[in-house]
Amino acid sequence: MTEQERMKAGYIWLDDEENMAMQARCRGLIEKYNSLPPDANAERMALTKEIFGKCGDHVWIIPPLKVMTGTYTSIGEGTYMNLGTTLIDDAPITIGERVLFGPNVTVCTTGHPISPKHRGDGMYSFPITIKNGAWIGANVVIMPGVTIGENSVIGAGSVVTKDIPDNVVAFGTPCKVYREINEHDEEYYFRDYRFDDQPEREEMPHLDFLED
Ligand SMILES: CC(C)(COP(=O)(O)OP(=O)(O)OC[C@H]1O[C@@H](n2cnc3c(N)ncnc32)[C@H](O)[C@@H]1OP(=O)(O)O)[C@@H](O)C(=O)NCCC(=O)NCCS
Repeated sequence: MTEQERMKAGYIWLDDEENMAMQARCRGLIEKYNSLPPDANAERMALTKEIFGKCGDHVWIIPPLKVMTGTYTSIGEGTYMNLGTTLIDDAPITIGERVLFGPNVTVCTTGHPISPKHRGDGMYSFPITIKNGAWIGANVVIMPGVTIGENSVIGAGSVVTKDIPDNVVAFGTPCKVYREINEHDEEYYFRDYRFDDQPEREEMPHLDFLED
């Protein structure tokens, strides 16, 4: 069994040449991504398709971006990631469509044995899934093996250690469900601020590079 086969089967695994080569490939592309001129939006968007195993259209990631392999991450159409996203994708990270990341989100598929006797044996990695329409707040850390449900909101600063169901607001360390997304959220976007009290837009803003 290769080290990558061990990882995929949920066994303890170690870095080997195959993994090191994946990391080196990714590091080169990420260096390029993070050093593109600030207004090179179309080039950055095109590069996401090279970095990640799968990447939909109109994926918008604000640099700096930090990614371990790229190969094991898939990102759905229209997903947005703010400054400082870190993806430790030693195992698959599956991010759906229209997902939002606040700044400094860390998605971490890997851990090390707790026992110091076994610490040197290697690491373990388990897949993470973030479903369509989820919003992950600033400074959230998502742990190995976790699934975050469709449309759910993870409050800023949470450490997500267990699965979170669809359509809920959850936060804290460890992250727990606070409430379901409800009708009140359809009327109010923040405290007593209502969608219906917005001024009409004369024209929708337009971004050319999003068109192809
Ligand atoms: C979770 C969140 C969406 C608010 O959800 P909400 O259901 O409207 O919650 P409320 O603001 O009514 O707060 C409810 C309670 O939870 C607490 N709370 C809210 N967010 C929290 C968080 N992230 N961590 C811990 N507690 C939180 C509030 O203090 C309040 O406590 P109280 O009942 O003791 O007064 C919001 O607080 C949040 O974390 N937003 C993320 C913002 C962000 O990261 N932006 C980055 C740009 S993308």
